[in-house]
Amino acid sequence: MNKLIELRNITRSFGLNQQVAKVLDSINLTIDDGDKLAIVGPSGSGKSTLLSIIGLLDPHYQGEYLLRGREITTLENKQLSQLRNNQIGWIFQNFNLISHLTALDNVALPMRYNQNIKPKEYKERALHALDIVGLADKYTSKPSELSGGQQQRVAIARALVNEPSLILADEPTGNLDSHTSDKIIELLLNLPTSGATLVIVTHDTNIAQRCDRRIKIHDGSLVNDYQ
Ligand SMILES: Nc1ncnc2c1ncn2[C@@H]1O[C@H](COP(=O)(O)OP(=O)(O)O)[C@@H](O)[C@H]1O
Ligand SMILES: [Mg+2]
Repeated sequence: MNKLIELRNITRSFGLNQQVAKVLDSINLTIDDGDKLAIVGPSGSGKSTLLSIIGLLDPHYQGEYLLRGREITTLENKQLSQLRNNQIGWIFQNFNLISHLTALDNVALPMRYNQNIKPKEYKERALHALDIVGLADKYTSKPSELSGGQQQRVAIARALVNEPSLILADEPTGNLDSHTSDKIIELLLNLPTSGATLVIVTHDTNIAQRCDRRIKIHDGSLVNDYQ
């Protein structure tokens, strides 16, 4: 397997001077292409903080982050923002859909920042992504006209539309009932995007057990690949 991400001695602290709290303490983690990885740990243990670093949203850490073998601090801002937009798809607990846009327009949004996709392709590609999540017939619906599970499907379609190599999901089922949650995890683990790497933050041990790999954050440290 090819290494996608290598984190070496990643430490993240918040606060100033005497008030500093070390949330992540010397984290070492390798993620390979195609991994389906669960990150678990109690509330406040630093799961979202770690995901933000992996997703290139938070540069304020100490340590090394290698993406396909390249230290990301060597990348220019333009390369970084293209990577963030084109190569990483995000899924959140609260769906984060834009309420006045239809499902189609929500899904199309990330393509506007992707110079590899022409505007005339937006509709067909967004419809294709909605089809993958089983919602092609709802493309004119606004978020308020959809159930929680359907809204999360739209958010998954939005995460897929640029065909990213990395999908990051932060407690994607936290607002869903257990039956809907099962369906969403089933969908995420069986996406037809060949080779995409998936990282799911969850405190649901059943979800973690369904992933190929599990890591646990405890007191700022990582317990790698527990069973
Ligand atoms: N921007 C921030 N400023 C200060 N403290 C923060 C910030 N982000 C997170 N923290 C703190 O870091 C700890 C871990 O937060 P988080 O990564 O959100 O945990 P989790 O996702 O595991 O619930 C918490 O104590 C939180 O208060
Ligand atoms: Mg969190």
